[in-house]
Amino acid sequence: MVEVTKAILGSYFHAPTYGEITYVQNALILMNTQGVIESILVPGDEDYQQTVEEHRQNNQLKELRKDQYLLPGFIDTHIHAPQWPQAGIALDAPLNIWLDEHSFPLEAKYADVGFAREVYTDLVQQLLARGTTTALYFGTIHKESNLELVKISAEMGQRALVGKVVMDDKEGNPEFYRDESTEVALRETEEFIQEVREYGKNVPQGVYPVVMPRFVPSCTDEALDGLGKLAKKYDTHVHTHCSEGQWEHDFVKERFGKTDTETLRDFGLFGEKSVMAHSNFINDNDAGIYVETGTAVAHCPISNVYFANSVIPIKHLKELEVQIGLGTDISGGFSPSLYDNIKQAVMSSRQLEEGVDTNLPQSERGVPNSRISVAEAFYLATTGGGEALDLPLGLIEPGYTGDFQIVDTQIAGHELPSFNVFDEPEYLLQRILYLSTQANIQEVYVQGRRVHKR
Ligand code: GUN
Ligand code: FE
Repeated sequence: MVEVTKAILGSYFHAPTYGEITYVQNALILMNTQGVIESILVPGDEDYQQTVEEHRQNNQLKELRKDQYLLPGFIDTHIHAPQWPQAGIALDAPLNIWLDEHSFPLEAKYADVGFAREVYTDLVQQLLARGTTTALYFGTIHKESNLELVKISAEMGQRALVGKVVMDDKEGNPEFYRDESTEVALRETEEFIQEVREYGKNVPQGVYPVVMPRFVPSCTDEALDGLGKLAKKYDTHVHTHCSEGQWEHDFVKERFGKTDTETLRDFGLFGEKSVMAHSNFINDNDAGIYVETGTAVAHCPISNVYFANSVIPIKHLKELEVQIGLGTDISGGFSPSLYDNIKQAVMSSRQLEEGVDTNLPQSERGVPNSRISVAEAFYLATTGGGEALDLPLGLIEPGYTGDFQIVDTQIAGHELPSFNVFDEPEYLLQRILYLSTQANIQEVYVQGRRVHKR
């Protein structure tokens, strides 16, 4: 059941500044009829008490209980919806074999819209239950099943950005799973954009079509060029994989004599609304291209453990001012939870800093000054995701969407250990991010509509 809330009273955490956490106690968050935050009143504001009372009396107020906290909804900037049945499967194979033997046969099944409906309904529900209110979805090559994902996420209240995947190269893809031809791939992409735009007119939280070459190795030059032109013509989001692992990185260099970043930019696929998954191998010149064009990185720390052959220097890229969001990369990453990815982002950065090979002296083992904090990783999952998608998401501020998760730290059987020590807000959020589970996420809202309740 969908419930619409116009006012929430509670204490919240968010991250307006990278690396810093803001905690606001007993705030009254007021939303307009579209579920966009209009104003926030705090105790001490002149009309605070009176406005709280008015909303209480009109039965319009959602009041958080003691031990409940409000966090912004999380934003998953890279997830393969069709790979949900593959989560946790065959992760000991290298990427190309994993794709050929598992992902492609699985993705081919989405020719069946009924199968798509079954998987996508479960996935969207599972993501909402983990606090993910917005997702940038890789679909499959099948237009109809992608439209099904659009409709399911829209109906369940999640904000979705969805792409019809293009993989048209006869050399780079198996016969059982590739676009019929370049022409068909481009035509269906264009139809998909138009159909999603039409459908989206009646979706309050928005649903967005995305131009989506799988990655350079699966596409012809003609397709990449055509997709760049479609992105420009319709001013759409663009999403693909860039410089994920050693193989992809070398393959693109060999084929074009330039980096993946330069290649994608030259095909017109970089821009304010472009998000590149992984980007593990980008050099400083590439990073400059991200900044110049407003293109973002979707950092997928769990997936990277398995398929990246490296650890991405997030701290360095943030210092260069690259926009970065966080992604689960289901199912390169096994977990659908951005909480899990927040933790892994921190842990991977620590291993990069310290190094891993004890045959080397400590001073030569790692990359100094690489660690990121859990507050920084929280930024990536919220504010960073909004920046990456170029949408007003991830912050609890006027003008931003009313997307929230209510985390309860004292659910019976899932109490987070407090014992009235380390109760400062900073520690409270750290405890929530490291230790809470799905059970602690009591309710989830997208633009004021309740989309999940335990
Ligand atoms: N590169 C191209 N396709 C894929 C995919 O499905 N998953 C990952 N992790 N990398 C890819
Ligand atoms: Fe991926």
